[in-house]
Amino acid sequence: MKKIVILLFVFASVFTSAQKFEDLAQTPPMGWNSWNKFACDVNEKMLMQMADVIVESGMRDAGYEYIVVDDCWHGERDSLGFIHENPEHFPSGIKALTDYIHSKGLKFGIYSCAGNTTCAGRPGSRGHEYQDALTYAQWGVDYLKYDWCDTDGLNAEAAYTTMRDALYSAGRPILFSMCEWGGNKPWEWGTDVGHMWRTTGDIYDCFDCEYSHGSWSSWGVMKILDMQKGIRTYAGPGHWNDPDMLEVGNGGMTVNEDRAHFSMWCMLAAPLIAGNDLTSMSEETLEILTNADAIAIDQDALGIQGFKFSAEDSVETWFKPLENGDWAVCFLNRSSKPAKIDFDWKTKVYDDFSKHDLSAEKTVYKVFDVWTKKNLGNTKRSLKEEVPGHDVLMLRLSKN
Ligand code: GLA
Repeated sequence: MKKIVILLFVFASVFTSAQKFEDLAQTPPMGWNSWNKFACDVNEKMLMQMADVIVESGMRDAGYEYIVVDDCWHGERDSLGFIHENPEHFPSGIKALTDYIHSKGLKFGIYSCAGNTTCAGRPGSRGHEYQDALTYAQWGVDYLKYDWCDTDGLNAEAAYTTMRDALYSAGRPILFSMCEWGGNKPWEWGTDVGHMWRTTGDIYDCFDCEYSHGSWSSWGVMKILDMQKGIRTYAGPGHWNDPDMLEVGNGGMTVNEDRAHFSMWCMLAAPLIAGNDLTSMSEETLEILTNADAIAIDQDALGIQGFKFSAEDSVETWFKPLENGDWAVCFLNRSSKPAKIDFDWKTKVYDDFSKHDLSAEKTVYKVFDVWTKKNLGNTKRSLKEEVPGHDVLMLRLSKN
């Protein structure tokens, strides 16, 4: 009898103990988020339009799946503490918006914050975690971005774990995107808590600048890239480093710079969350965002984050092991002037972490240019190319 009681107890605790939803985000999440372009100017009509364009433009078919409303969708909490949407900007209600987005074959994401208020001063989830998780589940939400403003006295791991548990108890699989900015090293404890975690402060729409807001700064693409050092081993299927959302097409960078930004995010196996106005994007922007070969590098099933192999003058050489023994290689030219590349494929490239090695001594790989779609021969001969300023040469090496 005693044994049975103990067994029952063990079973009960196994089946009721909270955890994160597994099986979500086996490859880096892809979607669109309102913040980078629209900030607090969000409403149901605009979000429905974005959903329409994601489908019409071919972005959905390219892999973009989540439409995420960031800060400022909120109205007030009612007398029982339940959160409601802003009735002027969301007159049909979030549930109707979610239904619309689902009807387009897409998923819907929402935003909250671990603190008392969000970064834009709207109601945060502190003390309301279970209530909010229940509300999101009832609305049919599929993704939660959870921010870190106004969190004095909170322990990050505990606060994010509370929301994870709340989401799990609510029962609807919701991808949990932790937006803690890297201060508490979420890569060290985030694997069992969320599906992705921000590694830095906010991105800014420039190639290599720092934009000061007074007490804090936002960072250009190169600055963010440099901040990813030393954390690649923490990423993998179901748990990704998130260097923040894309600025592609937002006008602060040239087409070359946007291409370099997108390519490097693919090399990092980063979540690809577009943040531009899709209704007015240029052909070049759409071409960058939907480049199937670049996306395939980001979404590769091995889920191995790429690494910087070398830096010579202005050119960095990055490698990323892919399925079936393929490799992605990206030459990033950080200078505004063109740079010549001369790379001998016989150079020893070995990834200590994944134990993959590029064995051009033994294997002949075909070399394919991901952006021009040209075949550049094979790895028997050295690569001699020129990379424009603030741009990349991104290649896929394949055995077949
Ligand atoms: C923080 C986040 C941003 C965005 C804003 C919203 O700054 O890092 O990504 O969500 O808050 O207020």
